[in-house]
Amino acid sequence: MTSLAGKSVLLIIGGGIAAYKIHELIRLLKTRGARTRIILTKAAEEFVTPLSLAGLSGEKVYTHLFSLTDEVEMGHIQLSRAADLLVVAPATADLIAKMANGLADDLASTALLATDKRVLVAPAMNVRMWRHAATQRNIEVLKRDGVTLVGPNEGEMACGEFGPGRMSEPNEILSSIVELLKPRSQPLAGKKVVITAGPTREPIDPVRFISNHSSGKQGYAIAKAAVDLGAETILISGPVALLVPPGVQMIPVETAQDMLRACEAELPGDIAIFTAAVADWRVTAQATGKLKKSAGAPPSLTLTENPDILATISHHAARPRVVVGFAAETEHVTDHAIAKLKRKGCDLIVANDVSKDSGVFGGDRNTVHLVSDGGIESWPQMSKDEVAQRLMGRLVQTLVLRQKASE
Ligand code: C5P
Repeated sequence: MTSLAGKSVLLIIGGGIAAYKIHELIRLLKTRGARTRIILTKAAEEFVTPLSLAGLSGEKVYTHLFSLTDEVEMGHIQLSRAADLLVVAPATADLIAKMANGLADDLASTALLATDKRVLVAPAMNVRMWRHAATQRNIEVLKRDGVTLVGPNEGEMACGEFGPGRMSEPNEILSSIVELLKPRSQPLAGKKVVITAGPTREPIDPVRFISNHSSGKQGYAIAKAAVDLGAETILISGPVALLVPPGVQMIPVETAQDMLRACEAELPGDIAIFTAAVADWRVTAQATGKLKKSAGAPPSLTLTENPDILATISHHAARPRVVVGFAAETEHVTDHAIAKLKRKGCDLIVANDVSKDSGVFGGDRNTVHLVSDGGIESWPQMSKDEVAQRLMGRLVQTLVLRQKASE
């Protein structure tokens, strides 16, 4: 049994019938030695009483945002800062919607917005409310914000309907709490990781541009993996429709030249990973006014080659210790990657097949081959998140070896 001694949980209880299970969760947390402070929403007070919760937890139970005594004892910001983990259970559709939109109109939602700690959410609601597009949209937002979910489970509900929406059992919530409170190794603490991602946009005139289909997903997943390992993570990104992972510093850029300048400004770093699909060419002379269709023959565009950012940084005097490039190929994937490794001067090329039916562009999965001086290593198909985590794990090892070699 993993001890939670010395750990402090802030439990936020929403107003749902599943609140009756919360006493058991508090008891389990107590058995493990955790300290549990509790916030009740107004609706939750209809289902459980502050008195019974205070008795069980041995702690004062907080209910009001503007209670002078509470603020004097412990301000609401401090309440969420003092915890190691925030747990929302039961998380009603309303509470989830507030979290997804950053609302802060009561003590529970304010504590959730004021926190810089990890948050675990145990949804509980009617199956139709759970399946509603608005709730599903909010859940996606929470996931992207770095919130962890437990449940909901499927089964018969208090309202008589059947389906997903039942809150997870207290022992399941406890397992997630134990997992989240496990000491996490941060081998990249104090290290700087620079990542490029997404497409670049090369303007033709003030309203048109040349670009490509890069979604940025792989680069954003790598940024998340880097920040999870404790790195100062700089994500230099072309225009994409993705949320920036919490803790990552995103620098938005449009053109290849902007991207290169932004990369150089971040040197020297420890690891640089170039996932961006940089446009190979830009329009030599960008029109200052919108090109008119009526002006006769279609315009012909003269193109100039863009700088190769990966090659430039690989050969830079302030080169990061580990430099990684990506190679999107449609045929002879590994042969081209070997040639690219030499040409660009990087330490590793992550090669992937982006041929039409691979589903890599815009998709969530990827099949990659790692090409380095040491040979070729092919990984089975996995999610872009898994590729990111495994790749970062590998780069931590490379960095440690390089550091040792230079000592
Ligand atoms: O030459 P190719 O575009 O196939 O090379 C792909 C790799 O080089 C990727 O890592 C990409 O981010 C990087 N690259 C770059 N600047 C360019 C072209 C590619 O950084 N102008």
